[in-house]
Amino acid sequence: MNGTAKVERPLQGTIRLLRRSELPQFRDHLLRLDDISRRDRFNGPTSDAFVISYAERSFQNGALVIGYVEDGKVLGAAELHERPEDPTPTGEIAFSVERELQHRGLGALLFERLIESARAFGYERLLVTTHPQNQAMKRLARRFNASLRFEDGETVGIIELEPAPPLPARPGAGMFARHAA
Ligand SMILES: CC(C)(COP(=O)(O)OP(=O)(O)OC[C@H]1O[C@@H](n2cnc3c(N)ncnc32)[C@H](O)[C@@H]1OP(=O)(O)O)[C@@H](O)C(=O)NCCC(=O)NCCS
Repeated sequence: MNGTAKVERPLQGTIRLLRRSELPQFRDHLLRLDDISRRDRFNGPTSDAFVISYAERSFQNGALVIGYVEDGKVLGAAELHERPEDPTPTGEIAFSVERELQHRGLGALLFERLIESARAFGYERLLVTTHPQNQAMKRLARRFNASLRFEDGETVGIIELEPAPPLPARPGAGMFARHAA
């Protein structure tokens, strides 16, 4: 070990759903992404104006957004955008972690939390799209059992989710309905 090794600061934030009022924090997080991360996140170059309106549309359209939040600042995010046109309840998902926090396990933690929320909402399928050179995203998707395929120059990962279990049988369940009949 040499004396110049970089000391990483501990991750002291929380991973949680973002409230609607936290749009500015989500927007600022996306705007802070360095050029390469921003390009990877949006699969191409984007202007600030595009990113600002993307963040606003996400919240207006009811996207599910989970953040890594430190001192009220969003430094990482996982998003789920519903695809209501699909017959199977499907969400398109995307991830972003600010450069100085990448490669420290936050992407995996955000993914785990996103899957939990997606199941709670009854989603059965998740789709993630990235460019074929995005090794971090491809590894992350594989870790969560995505089957990856190449489509129109992009890599598309599909994750099938186990449905949430039905309620356990309880003694007396349904009695009220029977009495009421
Ligand atoms: C993709 C991204 C969200 C991953 O977040 P992260 O916090 O760095 O991810 P983790 O630390 O949990 O690592 C996840 C996996 O990626 C691998 N990884 C992370 N950074 C990597 C890199 N630069 N090169 C290769 N693999 C990398 C890790 O080793 C890990 O693989 P493993 O599960 O096989 O061990 C992050 O790199 C990012 O924000 N990139 C820019 C935006 C983007 O590409 N979004 C994806 C398209 S929606």
